[in-house]
Amino acid sequence: MNFEEHISKSVDRKILLNPGPGTTSSRVKEAMIVPDICPREQEFGEVMHKISEGLLEIGNGLTTHEVALFVASGTGAMEACLVSAIGKKDKALILTNGAYGIRMTHICDRFNLPYERRFSFGDYPDPEEVEKALESGSFTHLAMIHHETSTGMMNPLEEISGICRKHGVRLIVDAMSSYGAYPIDLKNTQVDYLFSSSNKCIQGMAGLSYVIFSKERLEELKSNSGGYYFDVYGQWNNLQTKDQLRFTPPVQICYAFLAAIQETLQEGLLKRWDRYQSNWQLFYDGLRELGFSFFLSEKYESKILLAIRLDSKPDLDFNHFHDYLYEHGVTIYPGVIPECQTFRVAVIGDLHQEDIEYAVSLMKDYFSADK
Ligand SMILES: Cc1ncc(COP(=O)(O)O)c(C=O)c1O
Repeated sequence: MNFEEHISKSVDRKILLNPGPGTTSSRVKEAMIVPDICPREQEFGEVMHKISEGLLEIGNGLTTHEVALFVASGTGAMEACLVSAIGKKDKALILTNGAYGIRMTHICDRFNLPYERRFSFGDYPDPEEVEKALESGSFTHLAMIHHETSTGMMNPLEEISGICRKHGVRLIVDAMSSYGAYPIDLKNTQVDYLFSSSNKCIQGMAGLSYVIFSKERLEELKSNSGGYYFDVYGQWNNLQTKDQLRFTPPVQICYAFLAAIQETLQEGLLKRWDRYQSNWQLFYDGLRELGFSFFLSEKYESKILLAIRLDSKPDLDFNHFHDYLYEHGVTIYPGVIPECQTFRVAVIGDLHQEDIEYAVSLMKDYFSADK
């Protein structure tokens, strides 16, 4: 029996519906079992280069963009990107229509980076309003979340990118919970900066995050860099010139991430995106049949995550429901929307039709049985 078979037989398969870290494949788990190696060795440097190239290939950015890798969760990449891209004399327009857009303002506050914010929790960032905002102020950057994981809204990346290009404004995109699933085309969409992490739609383990940036922004990054650990230019430059990260990487997580990147490329972005969307649809239909309603109207849904209103089932004890599903191998996630009680299910991870059907049938059993 090879390792992969051994793992798929000996490690219980869990269905994680929290928005990452998600369910990983046996191959990704297996990739962590490697001979010990010092991360300063050339052989390991090659792994880091392969990760960087794979990340660019996923977004069709091999000829136009570069990558800086960080040993951090997604918020680390968010901080690295903002403090490295935005200078003290710049001004960013931040779209704050959910928890993660708001998080970017907290980072800017902490580092005294000038910004203005637009939109409130759950608003759709209408491109016309975004354009008006850009016309009204002297903005150098616009920072937005692509998929707002707190609500499940897919923000209009391509339209906003066109507006930024027209106004000569640099675009910063948090694609934490879309990169690797939604086919983003870095070559043909103006995206100056984009960040994400290893444990969302690329389906790796948690521990690494990354900032992808346009080659045209290299000089700007070099002069603006306001972080020490979180210095995008420094981190990228070290790997290019010394074939190492500046600081100790989580070796085994890197091997798993490389395997997850390879799986993403093998599946192909279009197929993965179809899989996510059809998995999402199974939840949408199943939960609606159970009498649930949703926070967003369907046209704004990302089809990666659903925020489900708890007031559509006033008698439901969420914790009890969670525990029942958890005992049966399925994990659901609480919501974070102010003034609206919700819970969330996401289809991020190595999940397939039979997994979703199993989860929905468990939910149906829960409501049909006398608890
Ligand atoms: C859109 C978005 N941005 C940032 C983050 C922060 O990532 P982390 O929790 O890994 O720091 C998340 C986490 O879910 C996210 O969904």
